[in-house]
Amino acid sequence: MEKDNNRGQWGSNFGFLMAAVGSAVGLGNLWGFPYKMGAGGGFAFLLLYLVLVVFVGYVILNTELALGRKTGTGVLGAYKAVSEKYAVVGWMGAIAPFLIIGFYSLLGGYCIKYAVANFGDIFGASWGVGGEDGVGYFVALFENRFESSIYTIIFLALALIVVQAGVSKGIEKFTKIAMPALFFMLIIVIIRSVTLPGAAEGLAFMFKPDFSVFQGTGWITVLSSAGGQMFFTLSLGMGIMVAYGSYLPKNENINKNAMIIPAADTIIAIMAGMAIMPAVASAGQEYGAGPGLLFMTLQTIFNGMGGAGAIFGFIFYLLVFIAAITSAISLLEAIVSIPVDKHLKSTGVNKRKQYTWIIGIAAMIEGIIIALDGLGTYLPPMFGRFCWLDGFDLIAEGILMPLGAFLTAVIFGWIRKDFVVDEIASSSEFKSKNFYIFCLKYIAPIMMLFVLIGQINSFFGLGWF
Ligand code: PHE
Repeated sequence: MEKDNNRGQWGSNFGFLMAAVGSAVGLGNLWGFPYKMGAGGGFAFLLLYLVLVVFVGYVILNTELALGRKTGTGVLGAYKAVSEKYAVVGWMGAIAPFLIIGFYSLLGGYCIKYAVANFGDIFGASWGVGGEDGVGYFVALFENRFESSIYTIIFLALALIVVQAGVSKGIEKFTKIAMPALFFMLIIVIIRSVTLPGAAEGLAFMFKPDFSVFQGTGWITVLSSAGGQMFFTLSLGMGIMVAYGSYLPKNENINKNAMIIPAADTIIAIMAGMAIMPAVASAGQEYGAGPGLLFMTLQTIFNGMGGAGAIFGFIFYLLVFIAAITSAISLLEAIVSIPVDKHLKSTGVNKRKQYTWIIGIAAMIEGIIIALDGLGTYLPPMFGRFCWLDGFDLIAEGILMPLGAFLTAVIFGWIRKDFVVDEIASSSEFKSKNFYIFCLKYIAPIMMLFVLIGQINSFFGLGWF
């Protein structure tokens, strides 16, 4: 059991940063960002994205971290501590990570499978990819519901082992090693990728400023894509940063941390693009989107690289796995902290281990149900049109997260105005206070509403703009 106040606390600010950046850096960076940047006008998209990070991401992140630290409890207790009538926002922050953890674990499980198979290819093992085309390989995997379920369970079990060990002895200890390792592996893959013949074209796809995407109503599409990405990639609107903030010692500088986390996350997203896009261009493949890029296109590329392909494939999928598991750990922590804190408050006993396994098993069941759908092959579609993975994603990412962040901005920007400002200012000079208040009041709620509409529009293909 944790020492300190029996609840757990980060051992160092670096440890906290690695955990928070670990949460932020995930499949959204390695998968969504490079493609969205390319499709959204390259450098033009990046500029817009950066503006959103500064005016909205930084602001909401500050708010969530400060809310956590001030109330010293997980997301449900935190909103209740502000006022009982905000419990509903707390519930949204509790349900969203639970909806995400199932499909996120399925995708993380696929990463394990790919890392293992590429490893096997290094010495020609029978359980390797064996040069099979990336498309065929992936279809065979998701149609094999038993295998998909097993990998989902393995992925979740690994995350659970870390979470049950506690905040400093589990999450911090793991992410302090895993995140620098991820960074190092990413550099290796970038070096290989940008030195491939024809790599420059991939970099051009990503970075070439193409402001024509802003023409007509195009800017609305790009703004909503950049807004959704900013939001998902910073793990906002789902209790994670509230929980992580609640383990932050009172003397740590929240405001500075709220700048470092998005900066690190953005750098890694750009690096991910530099690792992926040149290789895609060099192999003459489609830049593509969705599951195709990560699990089909890239595997085909590794197959085509000859003997070294298996080594790079192994390193690459291992680093994607690390990115995914550190995010899954944060999703679990956001949920687990709720009953743990409740129990701790009423009895003084920390039941972290028990609650971690209970929630973990519930998450496994959810993950298995999604695995059994085989990405829309087997189960009847959700809401009559989505595969189960997309259905869960829609409710969480499309609705609960932006709505939760919108309400958060309204609560702390308009109603309880001093609540978080005081907390941020308590541990450091809050130089950007006026900027923060302005953004929280006006820009963040408008943008969040906009993202909400944009998400619903794109999920349902409504073609509003
Ligand atoms: N931020 C993670 C990513 O970019 C995903 C994530 C979203 C993790 C929400 C936790 C919560 O992939």
